[in-house]
Amino acid sequence: MYNNLRPVGIIGTGKYVPENILTNSDLEKMVETTDEWIVSRTGIKERHIASKDQATSDLAYEAAVRALESAGMSGQDLDLIIVATVTPDMFFPSTACLLQDRLGAKKAAAFDLSAACSGFVYGLATATNFLKTGMYNNALVIGADCLSRITDYTDRNTCVLFGDGAGAVILGEVPQGRGFQSFDLGAEGSGGAHLYLEAGGSRMPASVDTVEGKKHFIYMNGREVFKFAVRVMSSATETVLGKAGITKEDIDLFIPHQANVRIIQSAKERLSLPDEKVMINVDKYANTSAASVPLALVEASEEGRLKEGDTVVMVGFGGGLTWGAAVLKW
Ligand code: UT7
Repeated sequence: MYNNLRPVGIIGTGKYVPENILTNSDLEKMVETTDEWIVSRTGIKERHIASKDQATSDLAYEAAVRALESAGMSGQDLDLIIVATVTPDMFFPSTACLLQDRLGAKKAAAFDLSAACSGFVYGLATATNFLKTGMYNNALVIGADCLSRITDYTDRNTCVLFGDGAGAVILGEVPQGRGFQSFDLGAEGSGGAHLYLEAGGSRMPASVDTVEGKKHFIYMNGREVFKFAVRVMSSATETVLGKAGITKEDIDLFIPHQANVRIIQSAKERLSLPDEKVMINVDKYANTSAASVPLALVEASEEGRLKEGDTVVMVGFGGGLTWGAAVLKW
């Protein structure tokens, strides 16, 4: 897919989750649910929740500092900052601009990207193309979300599913044959009504009515999103593998969006992957939206599950509806 253009890959990684943990037994005291239901239907045991004084940029900052350190770089070296999020600190300035200031990344261009749980992979594709063309030499790409701020903790259909966190990578030039081999990004806008937050934008500005009507919280039609997820996880994987000219047998580690262990199991079966080739940490963090894929990637790396030259496939799906898949030679 990228013949003749310089190879671009990951040269630094970092992650951060807030200290506060919300367990299934905590949730049993808040809504009518059980640990047994949550574990059997989703695989989630606990999730990390931002403290009152933490916003998305604070989580992103912690992950970014760790990623810069692992790349041996400082903020001043950065050319580009992309923050994938649907829970920015505020409408504007962007979370990326808040971060640019805090990191002292004076020469970096900075913007946010909205593709919900697919946002990190969308961000990787965007930054990779800036680097491939030579417009920039490096980029900080972050997936960060504080879904707890837009979750209705009286709605058992959604409140058991989400957590907060941030994962960051630094992209830069890597040796020939390594780095990103292909991407597949897509959207089905027709499914937008299955997962959305209605109020607070230009169509329905915040008002007493929108607050009383609980329209500043996530609404999700779980069954429809589930069906979409199962379908696109395997189709996007097949497509991105085809673009890279490889097959599912070549996958060393599959890193899916961590929304529900049953969705991951279904993709695993459709792709005939053994357990050891599939990264799962949804039990500890729940669905952290744009942070989910980078949290899983960084944790896999920290656990020593990635060796030089391994073929990694990342796949995200979520609101939009959207999906994004990438093939990376580690
Ligand atoms: O990042 C992308 C965004 N989201 C996703 O990927 C989520 C995709 N969807 C899912 O993961 C699943 O659809 C859910 C986990 C949300 C729901 O699982 P399900 O197996 O599809 O359950 P369901 O929606 O069919 O509901 C089954 C029952 C319902 O009761 P009735 O109507 O059959 O009496 C729900 O009211 O389970 C009930 N239920 C609960 N029960 C106990 C829903 N939430 C809970 C709960 N505790 N927390």
